[in-house]
Amino acid sequence: MNQSLQGKRVLVTGGSRGIGAAIVQRLALEGADIAFTYHSREADAEKTIQSVHEAGQKAVAIRADSADPQAIISAVQHTVQELGGLDILVNNAGIGTFALVDDVSLAELDRIWAINVRAVFLATQEAIKHMPSGSRIINISSCNAERMPFAGGSIYAMSKSALTGLVKGLSRDLGPRGITINNVQPGPVATEMNPEDGEFSDMMKSVTAVSRYSVPEEIAAFVAYLAGPETGFITGAGLNIDGGLSA
Ligand SMILES: NC(=O)c1ccc[n+]([C@@H]2O[C@H](COP(=O)([O-])OP(=O)(O)OC[C@H]3O[C@@H](n4cnc5c(N)ncnc54)[C@H](OP(=O)(O)O)[C@@H]3O)[C@@H](O)[C@H]2O)c1
Repeated sequence: MNQSLQGKRVLVTGGSRGIGAAIVQRLALEGADIAFTYHSREADAEKTIQSVHEAGQKAVAIRADSADPQAIISAVQHTVQELGGLDILVNNAGIGTFALVDDVSLAELDRIWAINVRAVFLATQEAIKHMPSGSRIINISSCNAERMPFAGGSIYAMSKSALTGLVKGLSRDLGPRGITINNVQPGPVATEMNPEDGEFSDMMKSVTAVSRYSVPEEIAAFVAYLAGPETGFITGAGLNIDGGLSA
């Protein structure tokens, strides 16, 4: 690691496991102090804290349901208090709800919107009050924002493509302040949300060009690059890291 994030203060939402935990660990290895939120899995959050301490950095774990507007706003405020500011926000927390259109309930529709979209806006709105010029906002969207190669993904794809419009608009608001905002759009990544040995894994592999899943560390390496000092001209973009699924 080249420690390109030394002195930076980071908040990662949904950092207790999966892609978020890998991002937390990687950014800590790059020299940043990290706060992260989680929903309910205390033991996983403890492991993530440990990984930050092993990298020699400060860790703050915040239990905050992204579906609760006040909880996500308070998580940003708590991060600023504990770390002394905020330079990098990674909106990673998300849920995958997959069902054919006839089977989607109103509660599922509202919940995916609240967590995958509304919380991203609210965290960003609160974070920018504290962010200096040069700050970075990175949303973990999905290749399904642009391509949905199977049935049952309508509300997930809808939630992720909402982020496409969001970063285009926000890039214009935030550009004059020197803050960039982008979506990282992964293809299938082996996590609990999308297990590599799951029911749909053969189909998922078959729609990529490389016939395989990614691992959280590959996504985290890309996020570390985007969070770094050399990417100030990238903003308002949807960046695929999807093994060619969108090709
Ligand atoms: N895996 C894939 O194939 C894939 C592909 C493209 C995009 N993505 C996106 O990548 C992001 C991370 O996915 P993942 O695969 O790492 O998921 P995951 O393994 O299910 O992990 C989800 C993480 O988010 C947290 N979380 C879930 N609901 C939350 C809530 N309501 N409030 C706060 N935190 C919450 C969880 O906390 P707890 O541990 O406390 O439950 C956990 O830390 C998501 O936005 C997802 O849509 C994933």
